[in-house]
Amino acid sequence: MTLIDGKKVSADVRAELKTETAAFETQYGKKVGLAVVLVGEDPASQVYVRNKIRGCEEAGIRSFAHYLPATASQSEVEELVSALAADDNVHGILVQLPLPRHLDEEKILACIPTAKDVDGFSAENIGRLAMHEEGTVACTPSGVMELLKRYEIDPRGKKAVVVGRSNIVGRPMALLLLNADATVTVCHSRTADLKAECAQADILVAAIGKPKFITADMVKNGAVVVDVGINRVDGKLVGDVDFEEVSKKASYITPVPGGVGPMTIAMLLKNAVACAKRAVR
Ligand code: GUN
Repeated sequence: MTLIDGKKVSADVRAELKTETAAFETQYGKKVGLAVVLVGEDPASQVYVRNKIRGCEEAGIRSFAHYLPATASQSEVEELVSALAADDNVHGILVQLPLPRHLDEEKILACIPTAKDVDGFSAENIGRLAMHEEGTVACTPSGVMELLKRYEIDPRGKKAVVVGRSNIVGRPMALLLLNADATVTVCHSRTADLKAECAQADILVAAIGKPKFITADMVKNGAVVVDVGINRVDGKLVGDVDFEEVSKKASYITPVPGGVGPMTIAMLLKNAVACAKRAVR
């Protein structure tokens, strides 16, 4: 069994980006710019945003951090995002989710032009992914693909099973694997026989959000198991996979923490650089 080291791959990706951002600055006389908007004081979101800002600095990306109070109005947030959309120094815009409940998320995200949608959440970017065209892909599923690539795991011709169908992970994950020529099954809460579906997977991606949901009896011998889950249980981070038992059957497996998690920010930074390059070409 090979443990997939997301921390190492994330560090490698970031080191490569540093070279790219330096070259961008030399050629265009300005830095790649990423704006991050946080509304409210959700502690988990504060940690994520802080890490994103730090990641920018380390990769040579200029960050534009905007913190609005939880009481910010719909129009205040929309005006801020629209101003960032018009700013030539900002190549990518990320609005940290979830937003406070009184805000209309869809309308706020609609203020981000597709060219600056570093999260790949827009209907246009999802449509491009579905049509196998160039665009920005959500950070977590593209982080999974980067891990597979760096460990030379080629999905072509393999049976891939994605458990979970969220817009942020499950759906784009299934499309990426399909675009990489896997035969893809998407399972969810209404799947008739989840165990039988999972047990056929050469590549199993768990993105359900339930601690230790994937047990060893659901996994084929020699399967590649990717755990996207981040669940907090008694103050500890636990994935969607029962790592201790499943790792005995898997050929490759991602740990939690230290697997997919560290890849997300690396891919966000990579998306920001890609948006900047598209903006100048
Ligand atoms: N909240 C949790 N994950 C994400 C993400 O990938 N992007 C944004 N914008 N918000 C998030």
